[in-house]
Amino acid sequence: MRDLASRLPSSPGFWRSPLRGPRFTAVLGLVLLVGITVLFVTGLLSYAAYNPDLDPVNDKTPDKGLLGFYLFAWPTGPDWLYRLTQGVHVTLGLTLIPVLLAKLWSVVPRLFSLPPARSLAHALERISLLLLVGGALFTFLTGVLNIQLDYVFPGSFYPLHFYGAWVFFAAFVAHAALKVPVALRNLRAMREERDDLVSPRPDPPTVSRRGALWLVGGGSLLMFVTNAGRSFDGPLRETAVLSPHGGPEPGNGPNGFQINKTAAYAGIDPAETSEDAWRLVVTGRTGTVRLGRAELRRLEQHSAALPIACVEGWSTSDQWWRGVRLRDLAALVGFEDDPPDVFVESLQRRGAFRSGALRANQVADPRSLLALDVNGEALSPDHGYPARIIVPAAPGVLNTKWVARLTFGDL
Ligand code: HEM
Repeated sequence: MRDLASRLPSSPGFWRSPLRGPRFTAVLGLVLLVGITVLFVTGLLSYAAYNPDLDPVNDKTPDKGLLGFYLFAWPTGPDWLYRLTQGVHVTLGLTLIPVLLAKLWSVVPRLFSLPPARSLAHALERISLLLLVGGALFTFLTGVLNIQLDYVFPGSFYPLHFYGAWVFFAAFVAHAALKVPVALRNLRAMREERDDLVSPRPDPPTVSRRGALWLVGGGSLLMFVTNAGRSFDGPLRETAVLSPHGGPEPGNGPNGFQINKTAAYAGIDPAETSEDAWRLVVTGRTGTVRLGRAELRRLEQHSAALPIACVEGWSTSDQWWRGVRLRDLAALVGFEDDPPDVFVESLQRRGAFRSGALRANQVADPRSLLALDVNGEALSPDHGYPARIIVPAAPGVLNTKWVARLTFGDL
């Protein structure tokens, strides 16, 4: 019976790797302490960047209740803000995967240790560990599947990733409060303490703990160098070989930069976008005006150098947009001095972001445009011809393409 018991994962003797130990785990834990915290904060900022409390159309997790306590009016500057926060969110998430897996590997014996609960406190700690490990795997997996564009989970990404993140981070904070003092003590201690992670009958070492940590670091470096390029144009983007928006630019010339959804994917009917057929409908305090591209061109044109920053974490460098300021369009319908919020509707028939709302500070910013041209040339159909929204520091999904209608005023 004793021999049989020692062959079960619940027996410390079952785990033979000489690498496991409190110091190995402590190093990985402290790296995750910083990394996960940055991930959570940049994730919360990603949600705030939608201005979800402005209009239900911007909010994919409307039942959030108190979890929206921190929301604020997303600023328009610096114009690279969302490019930075979401770029960090996704690239750091991918870079941390080897660390997360090594950490889970290093503590897996504890998952099987018996008895399941020695006391109420121990039982609570074990339940929080299940939420921690389950939450981590779930949040990372939904994130990776989302950016790799093969999101197979039943149910929308937003609530799953958002609520998964809160459950995970709550368990993470509880875990950190319990374990950080232990981890720091282990790292300061001259000799490794006896611990249930240390195998009583280790196999001969094939690599040292330091070597194993270098391997994990190497794995993270590999994830970083094969993904971070997604946030830069040109040769750097070519290095992002593991990213759907890595590799060569999709086209050449002024409209040759990265595209998220094409006109064909969005179900744009070319007959509706022709010079003769298309009219932008602008509604506000004084009524409605209809403008074709020719009339829009006769309005004062302005330019702005702004990036496209996608919620999936990829982005472009600044593109040179030209068109009519949103605040000038607001003035056309009675908002001369006080540009209000605006509700934007697209011609697109598919996609969660056929319409979106922009806050007054975004409308008022002189760089916020209804763009007709980019990099000195008319927008291509895939970049939103006949006209698209471009607002500094806003997530790509709120820079609506193929704009059909703008409704200024109370949303
Ligand atoms: C490899 C790991 C991860 C990837 C690739 C990833 C990816 C993403 C993406 C693409 C979004 C934006 C979704 C959108 O607006 O369309 C997002 C949002 C978010 N992420 Fe992650 N994420 C990862 C890990 C995490 C972790 C570990 C946490 C929590 C600790 C987290 C918390 C959040 C939050 C709170 C949001 C906002 C959700 C929303 O807008 O509804 N993410 N993440």
